[in-house]
Parts: sequence; structure tokens; C-alpha cells
Amino acid sequence: MKLYELRRRLTVVAALRGKLSPANANETSQANPVFYCKMKGLSCLLLFACVSFCLASDTEVRYVHLALTGNTTEMSVGWYTEDASKSTVRWGDKPGDYPFSAVGTSSEWHNDYGYNHFATIINLRPNTRYYYVCGDASGGWSREFSFKSAPVKGIYGDMGTENSQKTIDRVSAKMQNGEIDWIYHVGDISYADKHYFNFQKTWNSWFNSIQSISASAPYMVCPGNHEYEAYNPFIMLQSRNFVVYNARFRMPQSANSSHQNMYYSFDYGPVHFLSISTETSFDGAPFDDDHKFADQVAWVTEDLRVANLPENRKQRPWIFVIGHRPMYSSCDEYSSKGVPTSKSSVAIQKSFEDLFNKFKVDVLFNGHVHSYERNYPAYKNKRTGTSYVNPKNPFNIITGCAGVSHRNQRDMSSCEQSLEGLKNEHETKWDLPQPEWSAHRYGSDYGYGILTVTNGTHLDWKFYRVSDDGLEDSVVVQKSFV
Ligand SMILES: [Fe+2]
Repeated sequence: MKLYELRRRLTVVAALRGKLSPANANETSQANPVFYCKMKGLSCLLLFACVSFCLASDTEVRYVHLALTGNTTEMSVGWYTEDASKSTVRWGDKPGDYPFSAVGTSSEWHNDYGYNHFATIINLRPNTRYYYVCGDASGGWSREFSFKSAPVKGIYGDMGTENSQKTIDRVSAKMQNGEIDWIYHVGDISYADKHYFNFQKTWNSWFNSIQSISASAPYMVCPGNHEYEAYNPFIMLQSRNFVVYNARFRMPQSANSSHQNMYYSFDYGPVHFLSISTETSFDGAPFDDDHKFADQVAWVTEDLRVANLPENRKQRPWIFVIGHRPMYSSCDEYSSKGVPTSKSSVAIQKSFEDLFNKFKVDVLFNGHVHSYERNYPAYKNKRTGTSYVNPKNPFNIITGCAGVSHRNQRDMSSCEQSLEGLKNEHETKWDLPQPEWSAHRYGSDYGYGILTVTNGTHLDWKFYRVSDDGLEDSVVVQKSFV
């Protein structure tokens, strides 16, 4: 049992204390040692709690989540336990039979806030279903989960723990149908930073809510502004600078890199994925990271240079960039008359737009703005075409409406009140008239996108409304050259 759980138990006991009458308190004291101890005063209560702390060890495996490692024959498995235990994963290609195993590592991001475990499944064959358990023999194993390797994916951003269940249900159903094989969550993940006194509990609640997805398919993430810190006054100082985000996930290259999960890249099928930090590590970044995560622009430059080499482009013709905040959004907080105006959009454009064009990035996927928008290829605030056949420049898609609301979530009574860029009274949140580079924008429902990379020359993008699972937008991108 960890201390935060201990504090919770003490709170519960204190609440019960006020409700007990002397008569039933006496009766309870004989049946329940908690009540017995509390009747002897606070010191006894603490003694009981300490005895409980010493005797009880909670190594139940919780919040299982997968991630790609950058090697298509591997899969990273992450999970959480309250108390320390070994980090072992066992797997095989038949249910209940696990001939292979690997030992990983675990760490606490902050004293008494649980252990985050990671272990890697190796030697995967393509297009095969694998069954696995994680944990250890003495601490206990998880139930069996399974996953299959295949190159299709789903994308959403800005989820949180409220208003998100329908999105999870829709995505889960499509995963079972084989329409989605893995997930990219484009930042603003649990919104635990909004919960002053339930920070850890909110992260745990979020992991619990997505386990039906995350234990069965890679769940990739990038940092958003809501991963920066915890507002819990007891731990805020220790949890700034994306400490929790970097402890609870393990993205490709993060195990031995100074920039951890903040920015990274990996290849998968015919795609080079580059995940950037729109929050730190470039001039004008929203958060000053004291260079903790190194020089992102230099790293991105070299990563794209290599990815764009002819021999690499031949193998992986597509380059996708994932980043939380958009460069181009026609929500009126981010641009005016087609020109980016928000501080972050301007800074991102200054540091990255030329790089993305020079090295022929194909598509940018963003979140942050709690609505949906697909743009035309654009450069320096100008549309450079309306066709997605051999587009001259990158275009971006914003899917920031997986579940979270724009304003304080507790004030929301319906999703229509909670999204940026809405019709009705919020219609003016869109920049009017619609900029020429904005192709389709929508903010009246939650939603998620599915990206299908057919091959090296065709990709298919679809965005679905959550309420009726209807298709809101789609586009096919074709290119015959790199
Ligand atoms: Fe955000």
C-alpha cells in the first residue's frame, strides 16, 4: 500500500468517525479493528495504519499498455503496481501458453506514488496474434492480453477522463473489427493536472479507462501542455517538466535518450513517424525546460535529413509528423485572416515549417484545439493547392476532440458546450471568413480519425463523429514521387 492510498484510507476512516454513534461505535469496535483503533484516538489509528502498511503489499498488475519500440519485431509492455515487484513479461502465440519471457525494469516517478514497469517482447513475427501476461511469479500476474501486429492506425487527441467513454467504446469496437490496429494519442492525455488533490488517482483512472485499448494494441503518445505538471500542491514542484509523462510511458528511444518521450521517431511499414514536442526545446516554446530535453530543432533536422535520403525514402516513402499544438488552425485563437497569431503557432512555424518543407514531410497530425480541421497543403500562410494528389507542401489535420472540454470540465453539461469552434453560440470561435488553406472544419461532436496507409503511394484518412459513428470527413492522398 502506498502512502497516498494510506492517506485516502485515513480520510475515509475520519469521515466514518463523525457518523458513528457511541452505541454502534462500540459494536463496530469489536468487529472491525479500524473502528476499534480510531476509538482509541489518532495515535492508535496511525499505529493500525502503519501495521497495515507493513503487512500489506499490493503488487496487483494494473493499467497495462503497449507501445512500439521502433523495431517492428518488438513490443514494449508497460504496467503499474502500488508496491515494488519484478518486471517480467511472458508470451507465446497460443492462449495460455507462454514459452518466452523477458525481464524489464521499474521505477517510481515520485516517492510513494507507485511503480511503473516496462519490459519488451522480442522476436515477433509479422501479422501474428500474440498472447501475454505481465507481472511476476511472487507478486502476481496480470490476466492474459493479446495483440496483433499490422500497419493500420487510429488517431485522436485531448481526451481526459470525462466525456471520453464513447470515444473509447467506438475505438474499441473498431479494434475488434480489425479496422484499427494501433493508436496515436496526440497529447493532452489524462488531464490529471486539473485535479489538485487527485492527481495520481486521475492518472490511474485514465489508464484504467483505456486498458481495453492499450493492452491490446500499441498506444503511442506525444506531450501536450496538460502533461507539464501536477497542480497538487504537495507534489507540484517535483512533477513539473513532464516528469510524470516521461515516467508513465516509454516511447521509442526513450530508454536511453536525454529527451525521453518528448520527441522521438520510428519507422513502421512504409512510414517514418516523427513525434515532436510542441511544448519544449525550441525558441519560443511554451514551457522553458532549461535545455533539459536538449536541442530539439537540431535533432529533428538530422532525423528528417536521414529519413529523406533517397535510399530511405524508397523504403519508407511517407513521413508523418505528430505534434500537439498546430501551426495552422483556423480557430480564432490561433490565426487571423489565415495568418498564425497565437504565440505557440508562430513559434512552431518559425522553428519547423521550413524544415518540414525542405525534407518533404507529407502530413502533420495535431491536437490541442478541441475540434476537427483538415487543411490544404500550405506554406508561409498560403494555400499551395487544393489537390491531395502529389501535394507540393505538407498539410495538417487537427483531431483534438477525443473527449475533453475546452472550459472547465465540471461546468460542462453537454459536449456541444464543451468544444472549441462550435456552431451556435460558439460559432465565432472560427476565424471568419474561412482561410483559404482550411478545407474542412467541424466542432459539434467528439471524434477520432483512422489513417490507413495502403502502400507507398496511397493513404486514406477518415474522421468519424462519436455520437453516431458517422463519417464526417475523408481524403485520399496519392503521390507518385518523393
Ligand atoms: Fe493542449
